[in-house]
Amino acid sequence: DVPAARDPKEEFGDLVVALPRKEQFLVGRLYRGFWLPEPYAPGILAFRRRFTPRPDDVVLTSYPKCGTTWLKALAFAAMARDAYPPAAADHPLRRLNPHACIPFMEDIFTERREAKLERLPSPRLINTHTPYSLLPETVTTGGGCKVVYICRDPKDMVVSLYHFLRRLQPDLSFADTFDSALDGTVPYGPMWDHILGYWHASVARPDRVLFLKYEDLLQNTGEHVRKLAEFMGRPFSAAEEAAGTVASVVELCSFDKMKNLEVNKTGATEGKYKSMAHDSFFRKGVAGDWVNHVSPEMATRLDEIFRDKFRGTALT
Ligand code: A3P
Repeated sequence: DVPAARDPKEEFGDLVVALPRKEQFLVGRLYRGFWLPEPYAPGILAFRRRFTPRPDDVVLTSYPKCGTTWLKALAFAAMARDAYPPAAADHPLRRLNPHACIPFMEDIFTERREAKLERLPSPRLINTHTPYSLLPETVTTGGGCKVVYICRDPKDMVVSLYHFLRRLQPDLSFADTFDSALDGTVPYGPMWDHILGYWHASVARPDRVLFLKYEDLLQNTGEHVRKLAEFMGRPFSAAEEAAGTVASVVELCSFDKMKNLEVNKTGATEGKYKSMAHDSFFRKGVAGDWVNHVSPEMATRLDEIFRDKFRGTALT
C-alpha cells in the first residue's frame, strides 16, 4: 500500500533520449563517460538521485560478468549467518538463486519497487553495476555506506559476456563482442574506467570501499570471505573459526555446489526488462578460459589498452 515511486522514464526519459546512442547488443547511452544500457539508464539516474543509504548498508558492485553472483552469495551467507547457518540444509541459498537474495538497483528503480528497499531489515545488502562516479552522492560522500567491488581479467570478462549475451541473441559474434570491449562500448563500459573509479575510491577510502578480484577469490576463497566479513562489520569469531564456519560459507557458495542446485538449473531472474535463466550465471567458473576464444594477438591488444589506462596505479 506504499504508493509506487515516480516513473523514472517520465522523470529522466527526455534526458536519456538526448544522450549519444550506440546500437550494440544492448542499446547503450553515453552518460558522463559510461555506456549505460538504455533500458536501465532512467532507473540508474533515479537510483543516483533518490537512494538514501543507511550507515550499515553494504553496496555490492561489479563490472558485469566479473563474479557478481558469487559475491552476492558470499556476502549474503556471511552477513546472515546467525539467522541462516551456512551448513544448514534449509539455507536460503540452497533454494534461491543469489540474485533473488539481494536486490539489483537497476531493476528496483526501473520498476518503481523502491518501497521494497525500505522494508528490508538492516543491515541491507544491495547490488548494482553503476560506475563509482555515478553512484548516489549519499553513498560516496559524508558518512555514506560501505561498497564492495569485484572485477576480473578483462579477457575472461569478454568471454563470459559473450556466452551470457548469446542466450539473448544467439547470432551474436565473438568478434563483435570483443571489438566492443576494445572500443569501450560494452554495457557499463569502458571497463577500464569502471575499474579505475572503484580502484581510486578504494585507495582513498579503504574503510569504505573494498576492491576485490575474481582471480584472488578463486585462489583463496576463505581468506577473502574473512576479509569481506570483517569489512562488512561482521568478523568471524574465534568460536566460529574453530567451528569451521568460514569453510561452510565457502562450500555453500562454491561453483559446483551452486551450479548443481535445482533452483540454478531451472527458472529465471525476476527483472522485467531482462529476465535471465538462472543457469546462465553459472558457466565455467574458472580463470583463463579466454585462451579458448581469444587469439594471442587479440589478447595483446586488450592487455595493452589496460596496461596503458592503469599506468601509475598498482593495478598494472
Ligand atoms: P564464466 O562465464 O567465465 O564461467 P556475474 O555473476 O558477474 O554475471 O559473473 C558470471 C561469472 O562468474 C561466470 O563466469 C560464472 O560462471 C562465474 N560464477 C558464478 N558463480 C560462481 C561461483 N559460485 N564461483 C565461481 N565463479 C562463479
